[in-house]
Amino acid sequence: MDAFTIHGGAPLSGRVRVNGSKNAALPILAAALLTDEPVTIRDVPRLADISNMLRLLERLGCTIDEHESNGMRGLTIDVEDESDNTAPYDVVRTMRASVCVLGPLLARRGMARVSLPGGCAIGDRPIDLHLRGLEALGARITLEGGDVVARTPPTGRLIGKRLFLGGANGPTVLGTANIMCAATLAKGTTIIEGAACEPEVVDLAKLLNAMGAQVMGAGTPRITVEGVERLHGATHTVIPDRIEAGTFLIAAGITNGKVTLENCPSDALVATLDQLERVGVHVMALPGRTEDPMRETVEVQCERRLKPTIVTTQPHPGFPTDLQAQMMALLCVADGNSVITERIFEQRFLHVAELGRMGANLFHQGPTVVVSGVRELIGAPVMASDLRASACLIIAGLAARGQTTVRRVYHLDRGYESMEKRLNSLGALIERVDEKQLVEI
Ligand code: UD1
Repeated sequence: MDAFTIHGGAPLSGRVRVNGSKNAALPILAAALLTDEPVTIRDVPRLADISNMLRLLERLGCTIDEHESNGMRGLTIDVEDESDNTAPYDVVRTMRASVCVLGPLLARRGMARVSLPGGCAIGDRPIDLHLRGLEALGARITLEGGDVVARTPPTGRLIGKRLFLGGANGPTVLGTANIMCAATLAKGTTIIEGAACEPEVVDLAKLLNAMGAQVMGAGTPRITVEGVERLHGATHTVIPDRIEAGTFLIAAGITNGKVTLENCPSDALVATLDQLERVGVHVMALPGRTEDPMRETVEVQCERRLKPTIVTTQPHPGFPTDLQAQMMALLCVADGNSVITERIFEQRFLHVAELGRMGANLFHQGPTVVVSGVRELIGAPVMASDLRASACLIIAGLAARGQTTVRRVYHLDRGYESMEKRLNSLGALIERVDEKQLVEI
């Protein structure tokens, strides 16, 4: 297993491009199952989660052709064999987002068998809302040997309906993606109330419409889908990754750096930019090649002394749970007390104890952490427990005095492409090593 050794203290400076979004790409790749014509997706990042999704699509009868244009990785997915409907446990357990093949498979092939994802480091993560939504469209769902088995009604087609998808913790992003995909081929009109408003849902709707679907209202809590008989091939470029962009902005902020970010989806980061501004990390748009607020060139600069703030994670457009851990690292070195409350995944705090090992002063109770800023963090051996927690520890390591070693960076590789190389190109001092080489005192 790989680990990072980080020599902290170097301010980041330079220019970096934000990659295509992992969370947009995953359901978008799964949506290729809705047609037997080729679907081409551009700017797909090279990540472990994406490789797992491609492996799953191959098992489901797709061929995948990889190509490159303008430095962007493109993938063409072509469904050749529609006889296998199973997403097996060995794939689903490595990547929970495998669940997003459920809606497309069911709608197109009339039946889907998807292993039920278990819990993970950030909480229980049930899929009850996905199943409830599909049942509302007429699917018959059973649990067989740990697998969810979903079947269309005897006519072979789901039936459009008005349904409510909200849950105790708000809307569900992949649940909305699944129901939206399933509804594209249903008979009649589906109205999803309480839909997730995340930009990744909007991006998926764009691809579906390019394939001939009729999806309206994506990005609002009410999505209307007029079912069509069939979908065709299309080409689509995924949106830039707002979480990767936010991670770079925070990394620049904690090192007191000056970084230019290209392809920054500022329009999808309003709550994050607002919080960073309050703290003293200023992000300014530069005149760029495009006027697109989802693809800006921005420059980040920060004040020497950071101010504390109060952050609560919320569904979009609120502050994203996927940046909570990174923001906590930043607030560890602010001048005063901050309060972070996690409203999406209330157990998503495994990074708290690790930051404590680096000298952070944190008090955790229930869904809230009080962060009392310290003058400096001190390098230490720490362990990554999930994707965003790894990013948090790396950010902390960039600012800490001395050397930090972060173990289990395979979590990071799930969601950030060549992160150490890209941070090093900005002046960071990170080395990827084999964990076995580490000698800790
Ligand atoms: C997606 C993102 C993940 C992000 C999360 C919340 C992908 C691949 N992953 O995950 O990075 O952290 O959105 O923004 O896009 N819930 C239920 N029942 C369900 C489904 C969800 O109770 O059937 C709960 C969850 O436990 C959680 C909340 O709803 O508390 C939101 O989860 P959800 O939006 O579904 O997360 P994902 O789509 O899995």
